[in-house]
Amino acid sequence: MKITPDITKAVSILRAGGLVAFPTETVYGLGADAANATAVDSIFRVKERPSQHPLIVHISSTEQLGDWAINISPQAWQLARAFWPGPLTLVLKKHPGVLENVTGGQETVGIRIPKHAIAQNLLSAFGGGIAAPSANKFTHISPTHAEAVKEELGGQVALILDGGDSEIGLESTIIDMSSDAPRLLRPGMISRFAIEEVLDTPIVGMGSNAKVRAPGMHALHYAPRTKTSVIEMSQLPHYINTLSREDLPCVVLTHSNLRVAAHKGIDVISLPNNPVAFARDLYRTLRAVDKKGYREIMIEKVPSKREWEAINDRLAKASGQK
Ligand code: TXA
Ligand code: MG
Repeated sequence: MKITPDITKAVSILRAGGLVAFPTETVYGLGADAANATAVDSIFRVKERPSQHPLIVHISSTEQLGDWAINISPQAWQLARAFWPGPLTLVLKKHPGVLENVTGGQETVGIRIPKHAIAQNLLSAFGGGIAAPSANKFTHISPTHAEAVKEELGGQVALILDGGDSEIGLESTIIDMSSDAPRLLRPGMISRFAIEEVLDTPIVGMGSNAKVRAPGMHALHYAPRTKTSVIEMSQLPHYINTLSREDLPCVVLTHSNLRVAAHKGIDVISLPNNPVAFARDLYRTLRAVDKKGYREIMIEKVPSKREWEAINDRLAKASGQK
């Protein structure tokens, strides 16, 4: 563990009930002492997030798991051993002591051990659980670098720890392990298939369960403020023809290096052609183009292959598809 002056400061802010934004390998989190109800309440206030949306509790090691969760199944332990520390959140039966505003009143709690060195150092130095959603306003794009947190939450957070660019760039995979049948609640860069391989059993998808408030149920989630659509590249020329002068300027984000004919008022930005690098760059790029005053952001449809599942999920949400 490395205790820098920043970590010391962050720990004292958390102990006093304040908020600290910190880097993780997925996205930046807005952290509060998960055992302090007033501190947790202020997360909802600053994010402008409805109070029924539960928070993920971040811990530094599996030794703390018993403070937050009970009835942890052998399968849940298998996933913890395989993927922690890392970009996986396990939804487990909550310990009776877990605050209601952390769980949104549900009987389960989401837990993650992040891998980023600064998150690890902060959690070890703090000693307890840190409740942290992504450090953005409700429904907006998650921040993947410190400057983005400042844009989102600016003066409303006492300290922003700068850990550079988030390596993964998309939020963690969330899997509900609180009942017999594991259920994927949010796809992430730890794929459904990687999880199935460890558990040696198929994972049910994100089927509807009225009782569970699954992530991103709002139509617009993880969304830029600019109108955003996902378009097959083959449809693009036709689509562009339908645009009138008032629809410009707009921007096309392409990953396939397909050449989009130069066109006045239409900018083209290339994203990487592999899912890992695409995920890493996506939110930073969306955030940048969102500031440019475009009338529309058009994103080239990505493959329907398994490695792109999390990206497909976020693009559907960014463009307001269900
Ligand atoms: O990668 C991540 O998971 C980031 C970093 C900071 O750890 N955190 C994050 O938190 O994305 P947030 O709050 O933006 O998204 C967490 C999602 C929420 O949509 C919430 O509904 C869901 O996790 N969640 C949390 N606890 C849950 C529970 N007990 N049951 C079902 N869903 C839960
Ligand atoms: Mg979020």
